[in-house]
Amino acid sequence: EFHLHPKDAELSSAGMFGKFDRQQLQRGLKVYQEVCAACHSLRYVSFRDLEQIGYSEGQVKALAQAWPIEQPGVNPDTGEAATRKNVASDRFPSPYANEVAARAANNNALPPDLSLIAKARHDGPNYVASLLTGYQNQPAELLRKFPDAKTPQGLYYNPYFPNLNIAMPPPITSDGQVTYEDGTKSTRDQMAKDVAAFLTWTAEPNLETRHGAGFASVIFLIIFVFLTIGTYRNVWRGVK
Ligand code: HEM
Repeated sequence: EFHLHPKDAELSSAGMFGKFDRQQLQRGLKVYQEVCAACHSLRYVSFRDLEQIGYSEGQVKALAQAWPIEQPGVNPDTGEAATRKNVASDRFPSPYANEVAARAANNNALPPDLSLIAKARHDGPNYVASLLTGYQNQPAELLRKFPDAKTPQGLYYNPYFPNLNIAMPPPITSDGQVTYEDGTKSTRDQMAKDVAAFLTWTAEPNLETRHGAGFASVIFLIIFVFLTIGTYRNVWRGVK
């Protein structure tokens, strides 16, 4: 009863006719870049995929080059671990060398790769937006009923997270945390929705094609019903 279902984030991609809002995807990328990328990778998405959301080849190259997290690799001369700048064909990297390092930096929790999170979680797009704005104090009611359920040290109470206490510190903390280039006001709510929209695109870049195909098949089926009725009546014409 304390776990909450996500609120409707009213994303333009939702529903049968849903389409992405390219401006919103670009804002969401900026939130991911400036906030989430410090802990989360997008290992199924490469920089050049961003051409699909409206960036030119040159912009993608520049963005990859300037990306805050570098690609892990090995120095060919010394054989030691080293990093290099990203290129367009690279995937969005994780800041951690491996799972042990990732957990060591996060109170033993593992920041999951976010490429498919909007698909992996129930009602994913809304879930991501709600989770990001859902941090709050534990309700007194909860503690009265279950005194042992006090949020442990190093975790944060968030009723949208299935087990109520999450290891991720609130990533979106203040209005204006990210500066948008399209003039949209970056309220906390707006940033949460924008990054949720972006992660919906990473999880399903072909959503619009799928919606289009679904729509076309329904139209076809409606026409087909009338053809079938016509055929039926023709075949049985004159039979009593
Ligand atoms: C978990 C999103 C920033 C650390 C998660 C989850 C999501 C998410 C959707 C998964 C919850 C689940 O498993 O259902 C985001 C977004 C961010 C962001 C969109 C940027 C706006 C960060 C940052 C850090 C971080 C900056 C590190 C300081 C973690 C950790 C977990 C996690 C450790 C695992 C939590 C657990 O298992 O208890 N994040 N995150 N995240 N995130 Fe983030």
